[in-house]
Amino acid sequence: MIIAVDGPVAAGKGTLARRIADRYGLNYLDTGALYRAVALNLLRTGHDPANRQQALQAAQSVDAISLDDPELRAEETGNVASAVAVNQQVRDSLLSYQRTFAKRLPGAVLDGRDIGTVVCPDADIKIYVTASDDVRARRRHAELEAKGDDLPFDDVLADLRARDARDSGRGAAPLKKADDAYLLDTTKLDIEAALEAACQYIDGFLEKN
Ligand code: DC
Repeated sequence: MIIAVDGPVAAGKGTLARRIADRYGLNYLDTGALYRAVALNLLRTGHDPANRQQALQAAQSVDAISLDDPELRAEETGNVASAVAVNQQVRDSLLSYQRTFAKRLPGAVLDGRDIGTVVCPDADIKIYVTASDDVRARRRHAELEAKGDDLPFDDVLADLRARDARDSGRGAAPLKKADDAYLLDTTKLDIEAALEAACQYIDGFLEKN
């Protein structure tokens, strides 16, 4: 079974996808971490994310070890990840890893931006997680504060909107809800309520199949 979980930044899709994987005993891949690893590699080597060749080389050297680096979660890494993610060659070079992962038994949950539309268009279940800009920015702000990263709320909101615009507006595999995805709006839901809503949807699918 393959479950695709997509959505914009800070909609809660990462936590949700991980919890779904735990509940159903499936493998879990945070595909944003792959783009973040490319970004971190470029930042550390001083290479230019806008240089297509350097970005492609960074994508080709991503490995599982670099996916555990705590700096992957930094705000700057996320912004550079969004910038390199517009590069079609970078996307292509990360595609086979994601598709191979998705086929691992007994099944997998992948979260990202284009899982239901490009990486796994035939996923058994697709969930598109979203929430209002304000709520997402509040969550992101609280997360950063907890890490000791004291960015003003307005900066976090502006960053988030810029990232949404770039992720949805790019030509290469833009962020968008797949037509057959279940829309889960978490604006008024905490993680437990969001998990219950997602699991009800998944259980409904499992009963019929
Ligand atoms: O989910 P995240 O914030 O960790 O992702 C960081 C960036 O990576 C995101 O802004 C866009 C890019 N990304 C992507 O283009 N496709 C994916 N499947 C996952 C992430």
